[in-house]
Amino acid sequence: MFGQIARQVATVSARSFSTTSTNNHKVAVIGGAGGIGQPLSLLLKLNSNVTKLAVYDVAPVTPGVACDLSHCDTSSETAGHVGPEQLGAALQGCSVVVIPAGVPRKPGMTRDDLFNVNASIAKATVEGVAKHCPKALVAIITNPVNSLVPMAAEVLKKAGCYDPNRLFGVTTLDVVRARAFLGEALKVDPQKVEIPVIGGHAGITIMPILSQCKPKYSGSQKEIEALTARIQDAGTEVVKAKAGGGSATLSMAYAGARFAGSLLRGLNGESNVIECTYVESKITDASFFATPVVLGRNGLEKNLGMPPLNDYEKKLVEAAVPELQKNIKKGVDFAKK
Ligand code: 2OP
Repeated sequence: MFGQIARQVATVSARSFSTTSTNNHKVAVIGGAGGIGQPLSLLLKLNSNVTKLAVYDVAPVTPGVACDLSHCDTSSETAGHVGPEQLGAALQGCSVVVIPAGVPRKPGMTRDDLFNVNASIAKATVEGVAKHCPKALVAIITNPVNSLVPMAAEVLKKAGCYDPNRLFGVTTLDVVRARAFLGEALKVDPQKVEIPVIGGHAGITIMPILSQCKPKYSGSQKEIEALTARIQDAGTEVVKAKAGGGSATLSMAYAGARFAGSLLRGLNGESNVIECTYVESKITDASFFATPVVLGRNGLEKNLGMPPLNDYEKKLVEAAVPELQKNIKKGVDFAKK
């Protein structure tokens, strides 16, 4: 009897983790021992489309994090890599590189306040990508995303391997938050909520397009403005709640894993993989802008462009574009220094 139950349990757990993928994908998490990096690595260890997981960090605990993860009974191989001299080994052969490395916000700080420290970290990482896996899809989580993605584009251009379809700023957490808050407001399962969040990943550049929410959200204008502000300030809500202990890590890891998972599904040729993400764009006067895109075998397959906007949302975009342009210039200037 016990044997039979044990066999059933084993079959169920094997089924939930081992949907065999016909594609082999190595994924590196750069900053994999950090607050976002550890839960992100765990979620990627559970993703059956990941064949090899490289956990890279400068922290001495990194091999231990990789060892810990390797005991999860999923079929991917896990390796830890510590310090700049092992960055190449982490990146070699990667299909996808996810970058959460850097310092988080403390109360009172904006994402832009992190620029000086985090830009150097992201720059060194992207130089490594150019050298060791120039064809990889690169997903930047490190803040300020609005500046670091354009900075990364310049670094890749300098190295002669920039492909705008392979470089992404992760704005998925804004969508995740919008779905969570709308699920609560609409009293529906958040997983059933569809909502485009466009622009960037800081303050007023985060623009949930509530007029396009499915199921329909019909709050008053006052409620719409309050919900928009809550989504825009949700990162700060976590920073304040953690009271000096950093910014969002668990929800960011969840969002990063969802985005990386979507990149892998696109690479595997799955159809209709759509995510909002911050990419090079001609849709507004800001040269980088998040909109819904279709992901495919070569990264970004099609930019689905601006969703329909009402007058209030048009005003949000008008205010966000100059802010984004400023953020973009800061990143580009840093790369050119
Ligand atoms: C956030 O929005 C960490 O930027 C991240 O909470």
